[in-house]
Amino acid sequence: MGSFGGMTTDWEAWHAAYDDPGSGLSRRLRIIQGLIGEWLDRTAPNDVRVVSACAGDGRDLLGVLRNRGDSNRVTATLLEYDERNVARARSAAAEFPAIAVRQADAGQGASYAGAIPADLVLMVGVFGNISDDDIRRTIEALPGMCNPGALVIWTRHRGAPDFTPTIREWFAANDFTEESFHAPDDLEIGVGSHRFTGTPPHQNPTQHLFTFTH
Ligand SMILES: C[S@@+](CC[C@H](N)C(=O)[O-])C[C@H]1O[C@@H](n2cnc3c(N)ncnc32)[C@H](O)[C@@H]1O
Repeated sequence: MGSFGGMTTDWEAWHAAYDDPGSGLSRRLRIIQGLIGEWLDRTAPNDVRVVSACAGDGRDLLGVLRNRGDSNRVTATLLEYDERNVARARSAAAEFPAIAVRQADAGQGASYAGAIPADLVLMVGVFGNISDDDIRRTIEALPGMCNPGALVIWTRHRGAPDFTPTIREWFAANDFTEESFHAPDDLEIGVGSHRFTGTPPHQNPTQHLFTFTH
């Protein structure tokens, strides 16, 4: 059980839904891994930097890298608080020397120091667990985490009232261009990808961004 910031969800047990390849979570994972793979193809052969907020056991990025021959061009920092998930992510990342797992509060801008600006920012499994104000604050901080042209991949459930239209508007208002939005009819999930098209410099965030509400 998490004992951080009032968290009551068991975020290690939460990963069990991945054991069923037909679960909504597994389907979401495949969409995200597809987006990561396309992004890697598009950026090849450049060296790239990734940051993942609330990375869990890191299986989205690590699962893609494991099946590619060019993983050595990827430097990444995975931010995760739960120590059991940190341990799993570290063990999964052990084969990738340029991938660090940082046990840190991803809701604090200062936790990203040295890991940003990045070329790919994963905000996966975050926006469904924080307040609307925190979502907006985080999106407003994202330009400060992005290299020019960086991609942000994010998720949010579409349970009523569907908040994804507002999230997409907030990305647009903060110099992001939508690349894709996946909203399968038979699933409540939404997966978006937005490219940062604004002009640097932006301040790296140091402020409070979000707190998980459960
Ligand atoms: C919904 S899960 C998503 C995990 C992963 N991104 C995925 O999609 O498989 C949320 C994760 O965020 C972690 N978490 C919650 N609050 C956090 C915080 N303030 N800083 C870092 N990690 C946090 C939880 O431990 C959990 O692993």
